[in-house]
Order: sequence, then structure tokens, then C-alpha cells
Amino acid sequence: VLDDAAAVAALAADAIEAVVRRRAADNTSAVLGLATGSTPLATYEELIRRAQDGRGPSYAGVETFNLDEYVGLPDGHEQAYLATIRREFTDAVGIPPERVHGPDPTEATLPDAGERYEAAIERAGGIDVQLLGIGSDGHLAFNEPGSSLASLTRIKTLTATTRRDNARFFGSPDAVPHHVLTQGLGTISRAGHLLLLATGEGKAAAVAEAVEGPVSASCPASVLQHHRHVSVLLDEAAASRLA
Ligand code: F6R
Repeated sequence: VLDDAAAVAALAADAIEAVVRRRAADNTSAVLGLATGSTPLATYEELIRRAQDGRGPSYAGVETFNLDEYVGLPDGHEQAYLATIRREFTDAVGIPPERVHGPDPTEATLPDAGERYEAAIERAGGIDVQLLGIGSDGHLAFNEPGSSLASLTRIKTLTATTRRDNARFFGSPDAVPHHVLTQGLGTISRAGHLLLLATGEGKAAAVAEAVEGPVSASCPASVLQHHRHVSVLLDEAAASRLA
């Protein structure tokens, strides 16, 4: 539990840079799992600041995999998560676009999009560190309550709560897509290190349920309790409902 969102971002940035540096020292390349949404933005900004100041590592060989993607957005839509992560992070630190991946929402090839994404992650050697946010309903990536704890990348339908939460990016709740492709809870669980970030009072109940409640599909983020290397970075407000 840290004082504020800036401290959460600084510590998350430290963890990501440490992996990038460690892999470079081994002459290998880090594979980063990235989340979109509001929470990781301060972390991306911190990483970009350090890279631009010359304090950051080289990101030249780094490969990234997004957690999820909307299905049904027109081509080139600015809220598509692949476009978002390039705009908010990877372009600014110099990760070439061909190394920035997300589930492919092209309609014609949707049926095997999940399998192809799983194979791409495997080909890259698996994800070293996975950044995660948490939904106010306890979702992880877009695994809404009820998602199998063993699930792999697949199509999901968003709940009304999540569509309402994300309406701020689209202007109106009606404009938020109904469907997404998302890494499953099983996919996420394969990453070497899970780094869950939560800030603000709105996340306090979901954080308490995920960390202190039973492991259950009704709170997808509770799957973290089974992982051998998890860090949960919270500001005071997000931690306020912990026992
Ligand atoms: C984003 C994602 C979502 C968000 C969650 C929290 O790639 O998978 O699970 O992490 O909805 O969103 P924010 O951070 O906007 O509160």
C-alpha cells in the first residue's frame, strides 16, 4: 500500500524496467504484458519520462502483448486498444509497431483469433511481467464475473457495468462495443509476474474481494491468489476496504 497514485506508478515502472534490463543483460528480450484503461497511464507516463531523460533502459528488442481488444470498432478507431497502447506508451519508448501485439478483432478470422493469440504469446516465450488493472466488478482483462479461472483467449460479452464504466472513452454508453477478445484468466496466470495496479476509492471493494475474498469466478481477479509471483500495488484509497 503506497501513499498515492504517483508512488504506485513509480514502483510499477521500477518493476518493468528491472525486467527489461535483466533480459538485456542476458542478451534476450523482455516480453511485457500491457493493460489499457486509466490506471496504468501514470506508469506509462513515468516510463516515458525516464526513457526521454535517458534514465530508462533500451526498449529496442522488447515485445509487448495487450490483454484485450474491442470487437466491432471501425478500422482506425482511436479507442481500439492496439492503437491506444501505441499512442500511450510503446511508440514513445521506441518499441517498433511490429513487436506490439493485441488480439486480432478482424471479423472474418474471429473464430480462431484466440488460438492465434495464445500461439503468438507462446512463440515469444511467454510474458515476463503482466500489468493488470481491475474492474469495479472484479474483472481482470475483460474476464467478467463468471469467467472460468482456466479460460484462454476468447470472445466475451461485456457486462452493463463495464460498458457504463468505459462510456467515458466513447462519449456515450451506447457507443461502447458489446464484444471483446480477451486473454483468459488461464492465459494471464501463465505470466511470470503479475502486477496488479489499483488506485482510487472506486476500486476498494473489488480489491478487497480479490485479495481477501474466496477464490471464485464471481470475482475473476481472485485468481491472482493462486499465482506464485504477484504484486498488488495500491494507493490508500484503493486499499481502504482491506481488513
Ligand atoms: C484493460 C483491461 C481492463 C481494465 C479495467 C480497469 O486492458 O483489461 O480490465 O484494466 O477495466 O480499467 P481502468 O484502469 O480504466 O479503471
